[in-house]
Amino acid sequence: MIEPVETGHILIKNLGVQFPASDGPVVAVQGLDLEVKPGEFISLIGPSGCGKSTVLNIVAGFLKASSGQVTVDGKVITGPGADRGVVFQQYSLFPWLTVRKNVEFGLKMRGVTSGRREAMARTLLGLAGLQAFENNYPDQLSGGMKQRVGIVRALATSPQVMLMDEPFGALDSQTRTVMQEILTNMWQRSRLSVLFVTHDIDEAIFLSDRIYVMTARPGRIKAEIAVDLPRPRTPDQMNSPAFLALVQRLKGLIREESLAAMGGELRDGGLEGFDLREQDAGRGKQVGELI
Ligand SMILES: Nc1ncnc2c1ncn2[C@@H]1O[C@H](COP(=O)(O)OP(=O)(O)OP(=O)(O)O)[C@@H](O)[C@H]1O
Ligand SMILES: [Mg+2]
Repeated sequence: MIEPVETGHILIKNLGVQFPASDGPVVAVQGLDLEVKPGEFISLIGPSGCGKSTVLNIVAGFLKASSGQVTVDGKVITGPGADRGVVFQQYSLFPWLTVRKNVEFGLKMRGVTSGRREAMARTLLGLAGLQAFENNYPDQLSGGMKQRVGIVRALATSPQVMLMDEPFGALDSQTRTVMQEILTNMWQRSRLSVLFVTHDIDEAIFLSDRIYVMTARPGRIKAEIAVDLPRPRTPDQMNSPAFLALVQRLKGLIREESLAAMGGELRDGGLEGFDLREQDAGRGKQVGELI
């Protein structure tokens, strides 16, 4: 019998974030409420520039809120902490350390002995299919492998919360699918809370218990969608009527906000003559799959 998880409760109430700018402050987020219950996997999606990364940076403690309250397990966030692991889109491994030493880094900082560090790192690298690469350096790894090391490194210190900002955004779609499966497996084993930012609707549905959709900037929550699909999730569920119905619902919600975010011109002038596919080509995805 699995014990319920009791830590890793993120509560955001009436969050406001402003950035100073030469022509007056930019209001990035305003009146945003969000909750991640202990052990939940929650995704945050919304149009580009709506404030998703800002919200994650606030919870990570890298940015300060202008108003409102953000707590993790009842404690107001005052800065980064070992209770929160962070994985961003850019690989942020130490190039001068081997894969295993990268994973051990946070444990070393916390005074874990070398033998124990090594054993913990090996176990986690094994779960991510990376044991054979423990003595490699980051520049000897593929993008997907680097990102797996990043996830393992964030998990190594046993955080209560994982904050992930488009961690698979730079990966090709095949690698991305495998990474999603690895992540759900690791999440189910470690049973921590995850707040996950993505542009990819399928990815959000596949991974999440609930999805928050944000409005165009200033970002607040437009809708909260429960994903009542059975776990463990498998890629073949992506063709089920329940999955496809969620895709349609989310696409509709996001389209309204993306049009608002891109300004009135698109809505008024239509999309003719505006090759969105080309605009998005740099990200290796086609519009329609993405926000
Ligand atoms: N340090 C900063 N200084 C000034 N403005 C900022 C800063 N960081 C973010 N912003 C502004 O705040 C808004 C929200 O930015 P944020 O990066 O959170 O968006 P996002 O939803 O993560 O977008 P994307 O999907 O493109 O990653 C944007 O208008 C952005 O220009
Ligand atoms: Mg972002």
